[in-house]
Amino acid sequence: MVSDEEIEKAAAILRAGGLVAFPTETVYGLGADASNPTAVRKIFAAKGRPADHPVIVHVAGTSDLKHWAAEVPRSAWLLAEKFWPGPLTMVLKRAAHVSDLITGGQDTVGLRVPSHPVAQQLLKAFGGGIAAPSANRFGRLSPTTAQHVREELADAVNLVLDGGPSDVGIESTIVDLTRETPAVLRPGRISEQQIADALLVQLGGTAAGRPRVSGSLESHYAPGLPLKIVPPDEIESYVRARAGTPVAVLSRRGRPRDSKATLWQVAPETPHDYARLLYGSLRWLDVSGCRLIVVEALPVLPEWTAIRDRLGRAATPDPVAPPVTARR
Ligand code: TXA
Ligand code: MG
Repeated sequence: MVSDEEIEKAAAILRAGGLVAFPTETVYGLGADASNPTAVRKIFAAKGRPADHPVIVHVAGTSDLKHWAAEVPRSAWLLAEKFWPGPLTMVLKRAAHVSDLITGGQDTVGLRVPSHPVAQQLLKAFGGGIAAPSANRFGRLSPTTAQHVREELADAVNLVLDGGPSDVGIESTIVDLTRETPAVLRPGRISEQQIADALLVQLGGTAAGRPRVSGSLESHYAPGLPLKIVPPDEIESYVRARAGTPVAVLSRRGRPRDSKATLWQVAPETPHDYARLLYGSLRWLDVSGCRLIVVEALPVLPEWTAIRDRLGRAATPDPVAPPVTARR
């Protein structure tokens, strides 16, 4: 997939302060040397991302926790033992040397050990931490293939490592371990329940005052076309009510024989398969020539939480009626 020479080249680019896009098991990352502020600044420029948004530092193994975090609570060791390498990011108190560019000016740092073999090879060859947000332009869908990265950021990166399609397909679970009660800041493949079971505690809510997470902005992970979430039984009437508008549908059900949809993409039945293909499908529907994407509403069950979260952020809010002006 990726040769040793390519890995060495990528590590050399990172050492020289350049940008390397690389595969992880969740989505592709846009990587820079986490201890080089000039390099990290290039990430923000390439993505068009506001400078006060923190970025995750990817490290090769659990032993790196102590380098990047000022305090490593027992909960972090427990979760690392259980879920690393893997799709979990832990937010911990930052070590003093960690740049404000990485932390978004906060006193915390997000850390993750990715399991993708190419990410692991790169981290080992490079030898340091790699700051990497998802390799997409700010607010857009995360890339799950090297091709997605090339389409969006080709000019801005020095090298794209192609490790095949990402297996998880949505971004890592982020858990904040800096408060008395751990809390999930962004749901992902590793569920809140799995974390609670590992720590033998109840998790706290994502209360206000928690650190900023750019993925928690309302409009995020969005395709270019408007996207509507519609209950499965109402899709056909929704499409019919928009006669003249070419509509692309993403649903786990097959296309009804008399459907008026222009395009009907069948999505996998199970959450893991659904998540793996989600962003690729949305990218494809986005350039299909349709004017609207309709996604079937998914079950309100824990195993769909992370996917429903991403679709909710991709969805276009219904137009809000302007407030009635108070009469004098
Ligand atoms: O799966 C992933 O996490 C991917 C791959 C590349 O590892 N990365 C990713 O990065 O999704 P990004 O930057 O697109 O999203 C990371 C999220 C952001 O919403 C950011 O605000 C949050 O993590 N984050 C990073 N450091 C944080 C911190 N110290 N406190 C709170 N949130 C943090
Ligand atoms: Mg992102």
